[in-house]
Amino acid sequence: MPPRAGEARVSASGASGPGPEASGGSPPEPSGGPDSSGGPDSSGGPDASSAAPDASDARPPADEERIGGAVLARLGGVLDPEIRRPVTELGMIGGVEVDGDRVRVALKLTIVGCPAADAIEREVRAAAAGVPGVTAVDVAVSVMSPAERDALVRRVRGGRDRAPRFGPDSLTKVVAVTSGKGGVGKSTVAANLAVALAARGLRVGLVDADVFGFSIPGILGMSGARPTRVGELMLPPVAHGVKVISIGMFLERTGAGEPVRAVSWRGPMLHRTIEQFLSDVHFGDLDVLLLDLPPGTGDVAISVGQLLPHADVLVVTTPQAAAAEVAERSAAVARQTGQTVLGVIETMAGATLPDGTRFEPFGAGGGAALAARLGVPLLASVPLSTALREGGDAGSPVVLSHPTDPAAVALAAVADALATRQRGLPGRPLPVRTR
Ligand SMILES: Nc1ncnc2c1ncn2[C@@H]1O[C@H](COP(=O)(O)OP(=O)(O)OP(=O)(O)O)[C@@H](O)[C@H]1O
Ligand SMILES: [Mg+2]
Repeated sequence: MPPRAGEARVSASGASGPGPEASGGSPPEPSGGPDSSGGPDSSGGPDASSAAPDASDARPPADEERIGGAVLARLGGVLDPEIRRPVTELGMIGGVEVDGDRVRVALKLTIVGCPAADAIEREVRAAAAGVPGVTAVDVAVSVMSPAERDALVRRVRGGRDRAPRFGPDSLTKVVAVTSGKGGVGKSTVAANLAVALAARGLRVGLVDADVFGFSIPGILGMSGARPTRVGELMLPPVAHGVKVISIGMFLERTGAGEPVRAVSWRGPMLHRTIEQFLSDVHFGDLDVLLLDLPPGTGDVAISVGQLLPHADVLVVTTPQAAAAEVAERSAAVARQTGQTVLGVIETMAGATLPDGTRFEPFGAGGGAALAARLGVPLLASVPLSTALREGGDAGSPVVLSHPTDPAAVALAAVADALATRQRGLPGRPLPVRTR
């Protein structure tokens, strides 16, 4: 709909505006888009010429210009849920037209069938409707052209190439969760720590590095989720505020949505997969990246050690002496690759039954003994918990579904410790921010 006489038309400068790609690999910074101070004439991008009404038009009422500017400013607060950047900065706002008290927003989605389309449209509508003086909002949805999408990819990458991220210079704290024996509760710990850290306002990614025995999508209730591809970018699905990637998201499925192909790869293929997770998946800037490792000291643990030698490691064990002994070997491998063992988390520890008796099927003391042998702290002893197990089965992590359950309390304490602990680089604190 072309603007009529007396109709204000404002545009957001999008991906084609001056972007961070010009700055030689520095982290993406908001630029070129309208910010809260940005009125319709302040964007400076190539669309700026359309920021003012056509010369032939009668000057629109000042009120319409004010509304247009206010709508753009509010749209600057709408984030793409997958890329986590303002839609104005991503070139997703094609324009804003104001006609009296009616507003029309042109919204450009990144891809056809964008899974977040409804959520973005809802938020855009709400943002425009929230401007005083606006009584009706029309959101015209279209899809970006390939050129617009390429510009978005360049902008989001900020000039970075495909090199693995999260290297020693990264401000992201990398924490790998490992164990000796299988089935001791590693994935449960990793998933609950991730959502607990996200709930504390941190930007969190979780890599399910258990390529053969992936279980993170199930624990986080995202079994059918797939990454979204935008050009070369692979955007990880988000669950409970955590960006998650798992091999389970790439396998062929039956109609019921369950993966059908077993994974049986040799070392080099495994290495490549982990490498791709770290380089091709666009996590954006993260405060914490957690990795859920397979049990033991196999190929994946060695690859993670090579790819992320500066990572911190949490060792998970049950109270059983045998489990603790095997866990010690996992810690040793981590240390050989240069990783730092942060501490031990004991799971499936004794619980007090409703009648007051102690229930300790796996014994007691294994976690403390392992911590002592490794010379690291015992960070938590997570008791056996039905709520924890049920939460894992239902895709609803216990730290969110039953935060007062003793197992949730123990895991939350570890999240608190991780959230406040500073990254190992001198003078570079972990940027903790609240949303
Ligand atoms: N403290 C606990 N209380 C009750 N059940 C638990 C506890 N910790 C873990 N579980 C349950 O034990 C099972 C195994 O846990 P999980 O999958 O987290 O272990 P894992 O170490 O990741 O296993 P794998 O080695 O196969 O990757 C799950 O069903 C989980 O719900
Ligand atoms: Mg597991």
